Amino acid sequence: MPVNLKGRSLLTLKDFTPTEIRYLLDLSHDLKIKKRAGIKNNLLEGKNVVLLFEKTSTRTRCAFEVACFDEGASVTFLSNSQMGKKESLEDTAKVLGRYYDGIEYRGYKQADVETLAKCSGVPVWNGLTDADHPTQVLADLMTIEEYVNKPLKKVKICFVGDARNNMGNSLLIGAAKMGMTFVGIAPKSLWPSEALVAEMQEVAKQTGATISFSEDTADVKGADVIYTDVWVSMGEHNFAERINLLKPYQVNAALMQATENPDCIFMHCLPSFHDLETEIGKQVHDEFGLTEMEVTDEVFRSSASVVFDEAENRMHTIKAVMVATIGKQ
Ligand code: CP
Ligand code: NVA
Repeated sequence: MPVNLKGRSLLTLKDFTPTEIRYLLDLSHDLKIKKRAGIKNNLLEGKNVVLLFEKTSTRTRCAFEVACFDEGASVTFLSNSQMGKKESLEDTAKVLGRYYDGIEYRGYKQADVETLAKCSGVPVWNGLTDADHPTQVLADLMTIEEYVNKPLKKVKICFVGDARNNMGNSLLIGAAKMGMTFVGIAPKSLWPSEALVAEMQEVAKQTGATISFSEDTADVKGADVIYTDVWVSMGEHNFAERINLLKPYQVNAALMQATENPDCIFMHCLPSFHDLETEIGKQVHDEFGLTEMEVTDEVFRSSASVVFDEAENRMHTIKAVMVATIGKQ
Protein backbone atom coordinates (compact mmCIF):
# COMPACT_ATOMS: atom_id res chain seq x y z
CA MET A 1 0.00 0.00 0.00
CA PRO A 2 1.51 3.34 -0.98
CA VAL A 3 1.65 5.84 1.88
CA ASN A 4 -0.98 8.58 1.68
CA LEU A 5 -1.00 11.16 4.47
CA LYS A 6 -3.39 13.62 2.83
CA GLY A 7 -5.73 15.23 5.35
CA ARG A 8 -3.85 13.82 8.36
CA SER A 9 -2.90 15.83 11.45
CA LEU A 10 0.45 15.42 13.19
CA LEU A 11 -0.34 15.65 16.90
CA THR A 12 2.13 13.00 18.07
CA LEU A 13 4.27 10.38 16.29
CA LYS A 14 2.30 7.78 18.28
CA ASP A 15 -0.35 8.14 15.56
CA PHE A 16 2.08 7.31 12.73
CA THR A 17 3.35 3.91 11.63
CA PRO A 18 7.08 3.33 11.09
CA THR A 19 6.35 3.22 7.34
CA GLU A 20 4.64 6.61 7.48
CA ILE A 21 7.54 8.11 9.46
CA ARG A 22 9.96 6.57 6.95
CA TYR A 23 7.95 8.22 4.16
CA LEU A 24 8.17 11.65 5.87
CA LEU A 25 11.93 11.25 6.39
CA ASP A 26 12.51 10.24 2.77
CA LEU A 27 10.45 13.21 1.60
CA SER A 28 12.46 15.51 3.92
CA HIS A 29 15.81 14.30 2.51
CA ASP A 30 14.44 14.75 -1.01
CA LEU A 31 13.13 18.28 -0.35
CA LYS A 32 16.47 19.25 1.21
CA ILE A 33 18.35 18.10 -1.90
CA LYS A 34 15.88 19.99 -4.10
CA LYS A 35 16.19 23.19 -2.05
CA ARG A 36 19.99 23.02 -2.27
CA ALA A 37 19.70 22.60 -6.05
CA GLY A 38 17.37 25.61 -6.25
CA ILE A 39 14.43 23.47 -7.37
CA LYS A 40 11.04 24.59 -6.10
CA ASN A 41 7.91 22.82 -7.21
CA ASN A 42 5.21 25.00 -5.65
CA LEU A 43 3.98 21.93 -3.81
CA LEU A 44 1.86 24.10 -1.48
CA GLU A 45 0.63 26.54 -4.12
CA GLY A 46 -2.75 28.07 -3.32
CA LYS A 47 -2.70 26.82 0.29
CA ASN A 48 -3.23 29.05 3.32
CA VAL A 49 -1.57 28.12 6.59
CA VAL A 50 -1.98 29.69 10.05
CA LEU A 51 0.61 29.48 12.82
CA LEU A 52 -0.83 29.76 16.33
CA PHE A 53 1.71 30.41 19.06
CA GLU A 54 0.92 30.58 22.78
CA LYS A 55 4.62 30.18 23.68
CA THR A 56 7.72 31.81 22.21
CA SER A 57 9.62 30.32 19.26
CA THR A 58 12.45 30.97 16.83
CA ARG A 59 12.96 27.73 14.87
CA THR A 60 9.43 26.37 14.66
CA ARG A 61 7.82 29.61 13.53
CA CYS A 62 10.55 30.44 11.02
CA ALA A 63 10.74 26.86 9.72
CA PHE A 64 6.98 26.85 9.00
CA GLU A 65 7.13 30.29 7.38
CA VAL A 66 10.14 29.55 5.13
CA ALA A 67 8.68 26.17 4.16
CA CYS A 68 5.44 27.91 3.14
CA PHE A 69 7.27 30.62 1.19
CA ASP A 70 9.46 28.04 -0.56
CA GLU A 71 6.50 26.02 -1.79
CA GLY A 72 4.07 28.82 -2.61
CA ALA A 73 1.71 28.83 0.40
CA SER A 74 0.46 31.95 2.19
CA VAL A 75 1.02 32.10 5.93
CA THR A 76 -0.50 33.98 8.88
CA PHE A 77 1.30 34.23 12.23
CA LEU A 78 -1.12 34.57 15.14
CA SER A 79 0.01 35.01 18.72
CA ASN A 80 -2.57 37.43 20.11
CA SER A 81 -5.90 36.00 19.00
CA GLN A 82 -9.16 35.84 20.96
CA MET A 83 -8.51 32.13 21.53
CA GLY A 84 -8.96 31.03 25.10
CA LYS A 85 -9.60 34.57 26.33
CA LYS A 86 -12.82 35.63 24.60
CA GLU A 87 -13.41 32.60 22.40
CA SER A 88 -13.26 28.90 23.10
CA LEU A 89 -10.76 26.64 21.42
CA GLU A 90 -13.63 24.84 19.72
CA ASP A 91 -15.06 28.02 18.19
CA THR A 92 -11.61 29.26 17.18
CA ALA A 93 -10.92 25.93 15.48
CA LYS A 94 -14.20 26.13 13.57
CA VAL A 95 -13.42 29.68 12.37
CA LEU A 96 -9.82 28.94 11.35
CA GLY A 97 -10.92 25.77 9.55
CA ARG A 98 -13.08 27.99 7.29
CA TYR A 99 -10.07 30.07 6.18
CA TYR A 100 -7.06 27.81 6.29
CA ASP A 101 -5.92 24.53 4.77
CA GLY A 102 -3.69 23.71 7.74
CA ILE A 103 -3.08 24.92 11.31
CA GLU A 104 0.16 24.82 13.30
CA TYR A 105 -0.31 25.08 17.06
CA ARG A 106 2.22 25.62 19.87
CA GLY A 107 0.77 25.72 23.35
CA TYR A 108 0.47 24.00 26.69
CA LYS A 109 -1.94 21.09 26.89
CA GLN A 110 -1.84 18.20 24.43
CA ALA A 111 -5.66 18.13 24.77
CA ASP A 112 -5.78 21.61 23.19
CA VAL A 113 -4.01 20.56 20.00
CA GLU A 114 -6.32 17.53 19.88
CA THR A 115 -9.39 19.81 20.20
CA LEU A 116 -8.13 21.99 17.36
CA ALA A 117 -7.71 18.93 15.15
CA LYS A 118 -11.13 17.56 16.08
CA CYS A 119 -13.03 20.81 15.54
CA SER A 120 -11.25 22.57 12.67
CA GLY A 121 -11.78 19.96 9.96
CA VAL A 122 -8.28 20.59 8.54
CA PRO A 123 -4.87 19.08 9.33
CA VAL A 124 -3.32 20.39 12.57
CA TRP A 125 0.42 20.15 13.20
CA ASN A 126 1.71 20.13 16.77
CA GLY A 127 4.47 22.72 17.03
CA LEU A 128 5.12 21.79 20.70
CA THR A 129 2.98 21.15 23.74
CA ASP A 130 4.03 20.40 27.32
CA ALA A 131 3.83 16.70 26.41
CA ASP A 132 5.14 16.33 22.86
CA HIS A 133 7.19 17.94 20.08
CA PRO A 134 6.79 15.62 17.07
CA THR A 135 8.11 17.92 14.32
CA GLN A 136 11.35 18.30 16.29
CA VAL A 137 11.80 14.53 16.43
CA LEU A 138 11.42 14.22 12.66
CA ALA A 139 14.27 16.72 12.28
CA ASP A 140 16.30 14.80 14.85
CA LEU A 141 15.84 11.48 13.05
CA MET A 142 16.76 13.13 9.75
CA THR A 143 19.94 14.58 11.29
CA ILE A 144 20.89 11.21 12.78
CA GLU A 145 20.53 9.67 9.32
CA GLU A 146 22.88 12.31 7.94
CA TYR A 147 25.56 11.86 10.59
CA VAL A 148 25.43 8.31 11.94
CA ASN A 149 26.58 5.85 9.36
CA LYS A 150 24.13 3.06 10.20
CA PRO A 151 20.40 2.42 9.88
CA LEU A 152 18.21 3.90 12.64
CA LYS A 153 17.50 0.39 13.96
CA LYS A 154 21.19 0.05 14.87
CA VAL A 155 21.50 3.47 16.53
CA LYS A 156 21.80 3.91 20.30
CA ILE A 157 20.46 7.28 21.47
CA CYS A 158 20.78 8.45 25.07
CA PHE A 159 18.58 11.28 26.26
CA VAL A 160 20.33 12.81 29.27
CA GLY A 161 18.47 15.32 31.45
CA ASP A 162 14.78 16.05 32.00
CA ALA A 163 13.61 12.78 30.45
CA ARG A 164 9.91 13.47 31.11
CA ASN A 165 9.66 16.78 29.30
CA ASN A 166 8.19 17.15 25.81
CA MET A 167 11.53 16.24 24.18
CA GLY A 168 12.18 13.24 26.44
CA ASN A 169 8.68 11.94 25.69
CA SER A 170 8.76 12.51 21.97
CA LEU A 171 12.25 11.10 21.41
CA LEU A 172 11.16 8.00 23.30
CA ILE A 173 8.17 7.73 20.96
CA GLY A 174 10.27 8.33 17.82
CA ALA A 175 12.94 5.84 18.89
CA ALA A 176 10.36 3.17 19.74
CA LYS A 177 8.64 3.64 16.39
CA MET A 178 11.89 3.42 14.42
CA GLY A 179 13.29 0.38 16.25
CA MET A 180 16.18 2.22 17.91
CA THR A 181 17.97 1.63 21.21
CA PHE A 182 16.78 4.37 23.55
CA VAL A 183 18.21 4.99 27.01
CA GLY A 184 16.73 7.74 29.17
CA ILE A 185 19.35 8.84 31.69
CA ALA A 186 17.92 10.96 34.49
CA PRO A 187 17.02 10.90 38.16
CA LYS A 188 14.04 8.58 38.61
CA SER A 189 11.71 11.47 39.47
CA LEU A 190 12.28 12.79 35.93
CA TRP A 191 11.54 9.62 34.02
CA PRO A 192 8.49 9.69 31.70
CA SER A 193 5.11 8.46 32.98
CA GLU A 194 4.79 4.72 33.47
CA ALA A 195 1.83 4.77 31.07
CA LEU A 196 3.88 6.24 28.22
CA VAL A 197 6.80 3.87 28.86
CA ALA A 198 4.45 0.85 28.89
CA GLU A 199 2.80 2.04 25.66
CA MET A 200 6.19 2.44 23.97
CA GLN A 201 7.39 -0.94 25.25
CA GLU A 202 4.41 -2.41 23.36
CA VAL A 203 5.48 -0.51 20.22
CA ALA A 204 9.04 -1.77 20.75
CA LYS A 205 7.83 -5.39 20.62
CA GLN A 206 6.69 -4.72 17.04
CA THR A 207 9.67 -2.65 15.88
CA GLY A 208 12.58 -4.33 17.68
CA ALA A 209 13.38 -1.17 19.67
CA THR A 210 15.07 -1.44 23.07
CA ILE A 211 13.90 1.01 25.71
CA SER A 212 15.48 1.48 29.11
CA PHE A 213 15.97 4.08 31.81
CA SER A 214 18.86 4.59 34.16
CA GLU A 215 20.08 6.99 36.82
CA ASP A 216 23.69 6.17 35.93
CA THR A 217 25.50 8.34 33.36
CA ALA A 218 27.94 5.44 32.76
CA ASP A 219 25.12 3.92 30.69
CA VAL A 220 25.98 6.29 27.84
CA LYS A 221 28.62 3.70 26.92
CA GLY A 222 28.32 2.78 23.23
CA ALA A 223 25.99 5.69 22.42
CA ASP A 224 25.89 7.01 18.87
CA VAL A 225 23.91 10.06 19.96
CA ILE A 226 23.87 12.05 23.19
CA TYR A 227 20.78 14.26 23.32
CA THR A 228 19.87 16.83 25.93
CA ASP A 229 17.40 19.67 26.40
CA VAL A 230 16.88 22.52 28.86
CA TRP A 231 16.33 21.60 32.50
CA VAL A 232 13.37 23.95 32.87
CA SER A 233 10.94 24.07 29.95
CA MET A 234 8.66 26.88 28.81
CA GLY A 235 5.88 27.34 31.33
CA GLU A 236 8.01 25.98 34.20
CA HIS A 237 9.96 28.05 36.75
CA ASN A 238 11.55 25.61 39.22
CA PHE A 239 15.25 26.26 38.54
CA ALA A 240 16.45 25.50 42.09
CA GLU A 241 14.88 22.05 42.17
CA ARG A 242 15.97 21.11 38.63
CA ILE A 243 19.54 22.34 39.02
CA ASN A 244 19.83 20.30 42.16
CA LEU A 245 18.47 17.19 40.42
CA LEU A 246 20.19 17.57 37.06
CA LYS A 247 23.64 19.00 37.78
CA PRO A 248 25.18 15.49 37.76
CA TYR A 249 23.57 14.94 34.35
CA GLN A 250 25.17 17.88 32.56
CA VAL A 251 26.53 16.90 29.14
CA ASN A 252 30.22 17.71 29.37
CA ALA A 253 33.46 16.40 27.87
CA ALA A 254 33.69 13.61 30.47
CA LEU A 255 30.19 12.39 29.62
CA MET A 256 30.95 12.44 25.88
CA GLN A 257 34.13 10.45 26.57
CA ALA A 258 32.17 7.95 28.66
CA THR A 259 30.38 6.90 25.45
CA GLU A 260 33.74 5.39 24.39
CA ASN A 261 32.62 6.25 20.86
CA PRO A 262 34.79 8.90 19.17
CA ASP A 263 32.08 9.30 16.50
CA CYS A 264 29.28 9.95 18.99
CA ILE A 265 27.33 13.10 18.07
CA PHE A 266 25.79 15.68 20.38
CA MET A 267 22.23 16.87 19.75
CA HIS A 268 19.94 19.49 21.32
CA CYS A 269 16.62 20.82 20.05
CA LEU A 270 17.68 24.37 21.06
CA PRO A 271 17.48 26.96 22.52
CA SER A 272 20.26 26.01 24.92
CA PHE A 273 21.86 27.46 28.05
CA HIS A 274 25.49 26.74 27.22
CA ASP A 275 26.92 30.18 28.09
CA LEU A 276 25.99 33.46 29.75
CA GLU A 277 24.74 35.19 26.61
CA THR A 278 21.05 35.03 27.60
CA GLU A 279 18.97 36.90 30.18
CA ILE A 280 17.84 33.69 31.87
CA GLY A 281 21.36 32.26 31.76
CA LYS A 282 22.65 35.37 33.54
CA GLN A 283 19.87 35.26 36.16
CA VAL A 284 20.64 31.61 36.88
CA HIS A 285 24.33 32.47 37.13
CA ASP A 286 23.63 35.29 39.61
CA GLU A 287 21.40 33.09 41.76
CA PHE A 288 23.07 29.68 41.52
CA GLY A 289 26.59 30.37 40.23
CA LEU A 290 26.28 28.18 37.10
CA THR A 291 27.97 29.43 33.93
CA GLU A 292 26.35 26.74 31.77
CA MET A 293 23.50 24.34 32.40
CA GLU A 294 22.46 21.23 30.46
CA VAL A 295 25.55 21.26 28.20
CA THR A 296 28.95 22.85 28.49
CA ASP A 297 30.00 25.46 25.97
CA GLU A 298 32.90 23.15 25.10
CA VAL A 299 30.65 20.29 23.99
CA PHE A 300 28.12 22.63 22.38
CA ARG A 301 30.82 24.12 20.16
CA SER A 302 32.74 20.85 19.62
CA SER A 303 33.00 18.98 16.33
CA ALA A 304 30.62 16.35 17.79
CA SER A 305 27.85 18.92 17.96
CA VAL A 306 25.33 18.84 15.08
CA VAL A 307 22.84 21.24 16.65
CA PHE A 308 22.71 23.72 13.78
CA ASP A 309 22.20 21.02 11.14
CA GLU A 310 19.42 19.77 13.39
CA ALA A 311 17.95 23.30 13.46
CA GLU A 312 18.15 23.55 9.66
CA ASN A 313 16.43 20.21 9.33
CA ARG A 314 13.40 21.55 11.22
CA MET A 315 12.58 23.42 8.01
CA HIS A 316 12.98 20.46 5.64
CA THR A 317 10.96 18.12 7.86
CA ILE A 318 8.19 20.65 8.54
CA LYS A 319 8.00 21.27 4.80
CA ALA A 320 7.66 17.51 4.26
CA VAL A 321 4.85 17.29 6.82
CA MET A 322 2.90 20.09 5.15
CA VAL A 323 3.52 18.76 1.63
CA ALA A 324 2.48 15.24 2.68
CA THR A 325 -0.69 16.33 4.46
CA ILE A 326 -2.00 19.25 2.37
CA GLY A 327 0.33 19.54 -0.64
CA LYS A 328 0.57 18.23 -4.17
CA GLN A 329 3.14 15.47 -3.59
N1 CP B 1 13.46 23.62 18.91
C1 CP B 1 12.45 24.48 18.87
O1 CP B 1 11.27 24.13 18.85
O2 CP B 1 12.83 25.78 18.85
P1 CP B 1 11.90 27.06 18.99
O3 CP B 1 11.36 27.07 20.40
O4 CP B 1 12.79 28.22 18.71
O5 CP B 1 10.77 26.95 18.01
N1 NVA C 1 11.63 21.38 26.46
C1 NVA C 1 11.76 22.66 25.78
C2 NVA C 1 11.80 22.45 24.31
C3 NVA C 1 11.98 23.71 23.51
C4 NVA C 1 12.02 23.47 22.03
C5 NVA C 1 10.60 23.55 26.18
O1 NVA C 1 9.46 23.09 26.14
O2 NVA C 1 10.84 24.71 26.54
